Amino acid sequence: MKQISLLVILFSVSFLFLQCKSEVAGPDEGSTPIDTAKTYLYDPDIKKILNSNCISCHGASFPSGGLSLTSYNAVSAVSGKIKDRVNRTDGLMMPQGGPQLSVSDRKIIDAWIATGKKEK
Ligand code: HEC
Repeated sequence: MKQISLLVILFSVSFLFLQCKSEVAGPDEGSTPIDTAKTYLYDPDIKKILNSNCISCHGASFPSGGLSLTSYNAVSAVSGKIKDRVNRTDGLMMPQGGPQLSVSDRKIIDAWIATGKKEK
């Protein structure tokens, strides 16, 4: 009987451990460090990130929150909000419902804003 409860405890502990581990590794998985010497551009760098993660909800027709992320002007105008939302982990996080963008994608957005939001 004692051995069985010991086994149960061992299983739950390792299960909890695995859960924590996958949570920490999640957003970073498969991400490569960004090239800091590079100037990131709306087209193609930012566009690529938005097209694969945001356009499903923020497309041109019936965009969520009234926000279409399909043109340089629109994206440039709300870049501060985009930066804020993709770095949040609360209910306001974007993409809504997760998963969070990779660390490298978020760094690319930061670098693009910091270098003057160049179009192409
Ligand atoms: C599953 C649908 C969905 C996806 C995917 C999604 N969004 Fe959103 N987004 C929403 C909804 C719904 C709102 C309005 C509610 C709110 O403000 O949280 C919103 C609001 C926003 C706002 C605030 C608009 C404002 O005027 O305040 C920003 C900025 C934003 N999203 C950026 C993004 C970015 C960047 C991505 C991709 C990384 C993204 N969203 C992906 C559904 C989505």
